Amino acid sequence: MSQSLWNDVDTYFEQSLIGKDVGVDAAREASLAAGLPDIAVAPNQGKLLHILARSVNARRILEIGTLGGYSAIWMARALPDDGEMVTLEYNPRHAEIARENIARAGLASKVKVIVGPAIEALKTLSGPFDLSFIDADKRSNPDYFRWALKLSRKGSLIVVDNVVRGGKVLNSSTDDPDVQGIRRLFEIMAAELRVVATAIQTVGAKGHDGLAVALVTT
Ligand code: SAH
Ligand code: DHB
Ligand code: MG
Repeated sequence: MSQSLWNDVDTYFEQSLIGKDVGVDAAREASLAAGLPDIAVAPNQGKLLHILARSVNARRILEIGTLGGYSAIWMARALPDDGEMVTLEYNPRHAEIARENIARAGLASKVKVIVGPAIEALKTLSGPFDLSFIDADKRSNPDYFRWALKLSRKGSLIVVDNVVRGGKVLNSSTDDPDVQGIRRLFEIMAAELRVVATAIQTVGAKGHDGLAVALVTT
């Protein structure tokens, strides 16, 4: 509705608090130049993920949905020298560009990109991860959340992107499997006694969307 105003405010935040940042800017530009879709998190969202990772003293981070590695770079930068990140990507072309971007950012030794359906990769991982960021096919959010929880410890955070989708989340009778996946995610989060969870709707460069955040309490 006021997309150009939201863009301007995001640009203002970016200019005030982030500035030119070669590490992440290069990853975004190379991803777009390679023809990847323009759906990475916005810079201020990437920085929020970075701050969340630092807040939980993350030593191991899991990401589901790598694209060109933009959000991965923001989060991996929060890791200590011996920290590690695993990021899961279905599309081999996306994974290839992500590996290049991650290497250019000097993070290749800390970040492992696993190519293939995330569900298959998740079966091979061992936890705990201190932060999980779920940002892949939205229809699979219920499975991804269950896996992220299984791979968490007390105090881990689980963050899920794109839980509003311009308000489509309200449509309980939709046959859109992605919207159903988001709604089912909220049901699972609400019923799950091992987490405290909330969600925030956002406007900005990514339109009207939102994030869900769950803290694992036991
Ligand atoms: N987190 C990224 C954006 C991810 S976009 C960032 O903010 O920079 C979503 C990604 O999930 C796409 O690259 C898509 O190929 C990937 N994806 C879709 N379905 C998947 C699946 N089943 N398993 C793993 N990755 C998947
Ligand atoms: C889409 C996916 C995302 O993860 C996102 O942040 C925005 C859009 C998409 O598939 O359209
Ligand atoms: Mg997203």
